[in-house]
Amino acid sequence: TPRIFSGIQPSGGMTLGNYLGALKRFAEKQDEGIETIYCVVDMHAITVWQDPAKLRHQTREIAAAYLASGIDPARSILFNQSQVSGHAELAWIFNCVARIGWMYRMTQFKDKTAGKNAENSSLGLLAYPSLMAADILLYHATHVPVGEDQKQHLELTRDIAAKFNHDYEQDFFPITEPLIEGAATRVMSLRDGTKKMSKSDPSDASRINLTDDADTIAKKIRKATTDPNPLPGTLDGLKDRPEAKNLINIYAALSGESAEKVIAEFAGAQFGTFKPRLAELAVEKLAPITAEMNRYMQDPAEIDRILGEGAARARAIAAPILARTKEIVGMIGSQ
Ligand code: TYM
Repeated sequence: TPRIFSGIQPSGGMTLGNYLGALKRFAEKQDEGIETIYCVVDMHAITVWQDPAKLRHQTREIAAAYLASGIDPARSILFNQSQVSGHAELAWIFNCVARIGWMYRMTQFKDKTAGKNAENSSLGLLAYPSLMAADILLYHATHVPVGEDQKQHLELTRDIAAKFNHDYEQDFFPITEPLIEGAATRVMSLRDGTKKMSKSDPSDASRINLTDDADTIAKKIRKATTDPNPLPGTLDGLKDRPEAKNLINIYAALSGESAEKVIAEFAGAQFGTFKPRLAELAVEKLAPITAEMNRYMQDPAEIDRILGEGAARARAIAAPILARTKEIVGMIGSQ
């Protein structure tokens, strides 16, 4: 039976990219009745320095974003990673299965160390994908909804599962399927259509944050970089127009229509017409989520309670899988 796992780092605020590429789809999977386990990956966040007070705040804020976008703690398991020690334990075993060379080949590691001395980054940053494989495989998850940027990490998860199964002559860990679907698997920066929208971009105008108010959202969309030409009538016409393509994809993902349908609807329109329509749609869809997030953030104790309860349920699923893994490896245990 299918089981879904996915995670979000509390290393900054939530962007429209996180929402459309991940969160919105997480809620859809839950509503389809699939077993869903969602995590705030605080242990991944500390692979780069995090101020402790900020980490605590951002962990609650990501939890609030999950809840505000429709994750129901009665139907999904929602928790923060560090409360379930099995993640760290399985990651250690995977550190001994995975090869150092696999880690150096990860584009995220290369990006995060670009222009810096890689030797001076944390060992955790290099081993990051091994912990990610542990997140998923600790629950024998079969499907992982993510944005396009996580594809390489999920291929590595499959490689680790396959090598473990091969080395120990077992058919124990599933070979997980990534789910990279919809119109917004790679939302781009509003300033540069060739760069991913990211919480770590120094320019706040490059992204829409889930905490932005309506005026800010409208202003950022109005000021988004575009070319001077009117919109074409087909997706083909967007080929060399990354900024235009990005805005169409955002519109499609927010409205739930296909990009084909959106471009046909706006055929021949100028950005002066399209941008206000997009801004209106974005505010209509995001304002209720922002309001709900703010409401949850009024009661941090309630968020912590939800995370604690989710962690207890996660532990119950993980325990027999971790115990069996240790047994396969040859470790003595009493459970
Ligand atoms: P993170 O925290 O960077 O992003 C969370 C999710 O948002 C997606 N995403 C985007 N989608 C579309 N357009 C964008 N511009 C955009 N930016 C981010 C990401 O693809 C992701 O799905 N390593 C993961 C967290 C993680 C994880 C896991 C995910 C840890 N363990 C296990 C799945 C399964 C990360 O850094 O995501």
